[in-house]
Amino acid sequence: MEVRAADRSERDQVLDLLSLWYNDSEFFARYNQLDPRFRDDLCLVARDGARLVSTVQIFDRTINLDGHAIPMGGIGSVFTLEEYRHKGVASALMRLAVDTMVREGFEVSLLFAERLTFYSQFGWRAVERKFSILAGAAGIKAPSHFVPTHFLIDVFDETRDLAAIAEIHRAYSGRFNVSAIRDHASWRANLEFAGNQPMRPGVGSKEYFIVCRDAGRIAAYARVTRFHGVSMVMEFGYVAGALDAMLATFKYLGEVASGSSISFQRAGDHRRAALLRGEDSTAESGLLISHTAQDPGLEHRIREAGCPVAHHTDDNYMWRILAPAKLARRFAMTPEAASAHAFETFQDSHSLFWTADRF
Ligand SMILES: CC(C)(COP(=O)(O)OP(=O)(O)OC[C@H]1O[C@@H](n2cnc3c(N)ncnc32)[C@H](O)[C@@H]1OP(=O)(O)O)[C@@H](O)C(=O)NCCC(=O)NCCS
Repeated sequence: MEVRAADRSERDQVLDLLSLWYNDSEFFARYNQLDPRFRDDLCLVARDGARLVSTVQIFDRTINLDGHAIPMGGIGSVFTLEEYRHKGVASALMRLAVDTMVREGFEVSLLFAERLTFYSQFGWRAVERKFSILAGAAGIKAPSHFVPTHFLIDVFDETRDLAAIAEIHRAYSGRFNVSAIRDHASWRANLEFAGNQPMRPGVGSKEYFIVCRDAGRIAAYARVTRFHGVSMVMEFGYVAGALDAMLATFKYLGEVASGSSISFQRAGDHRRAALLRGEDSTAESGLLISHTAQDPGLEHRIREAGCPVAHHTDDNYMWRILAPAKLARRFAMTPEAASAHAFETFQDSHSLFWTADRF
């Protein structure tokens, strides 16, 4: 069995192998073909004779930790052919992934796991984080200065809106530790693969990306998809001080999700709003899932406006430190203290890693 980085000529075989997972040949291709940071040497494979039998992929990302742009290796697309399972093949690839990430200068690593014990063998540790469940966003009440008809809900248009959205993202998400940093190329790629879960084989994942205009100017935005059967606001942001526009955006999404009448003016093609209704529109009574714990001021305003916000804790989120000495230099601490500090930051409820950045 060969366990090594993939060769360029093996790209299609890697995709053929992964297509057996979700029975969806397009899903993984989006990452391999559209991610400007995809590299064959970060795509690890196990080959038995003529067959590729297992793969692990390292996604090259950058996150914010205390204002430092930290190279982060995301682990994903971990898959072994059924008949080769339980023979240690993925384990060998995970060990190679750690060596490769250290060699390539990644300082921390993130993965989303269902099998916590499997990954903990290779040094990843589960970190709790909070998802927010917004029950009844449609019922968000308008304070006297909040007039729904004042806001226009429009559909994001890349050519027209990306510069403004990237600026809101940089200013809003950039305030929070752990958030992924996106340059222009990463933004364009992110628009192709955010959402992550194929809804049905062959359908791929799509997002409903809306902007909320206040007097023509974008004041808030939200990106929504269906994720494991729920309406997931996988990223949002607002201009400093534009809490009302953010509340208006949540209210609008709640109205769509619950099938209520829409109290906002709209522009653009809103067919993808159907993502909020799912297949079974009666199942969830308009719940929205997102992250809000990072922003207590926003949470307070949502609750004050009459929409309960509950937290659900999840520990499928696993981190590993790869380069303690580099973190030590950045944070001016000992390597042990720097690693502990990084873990405290990963699990701090004010930190944020958007679902839109999943890999
Ligand atoms: C998860 C997955 C990649 C594991 O691949 P694998 O090649 O079977 O992995 P390994 O053989 O290295 O390890 C699997 C288990 O077999 C055990 N194992 C390893 N070598 C073994 C051997 N010689 N004999 C018996 N068991 C062995 C491992 O300890 C591990 O046990 P654990 O699951 O209790 O931790 C594979 O099950 C898969 O492709 N699943 C579907 C896709 C998926 O779920 N991906 C991960 C998403 S988080």
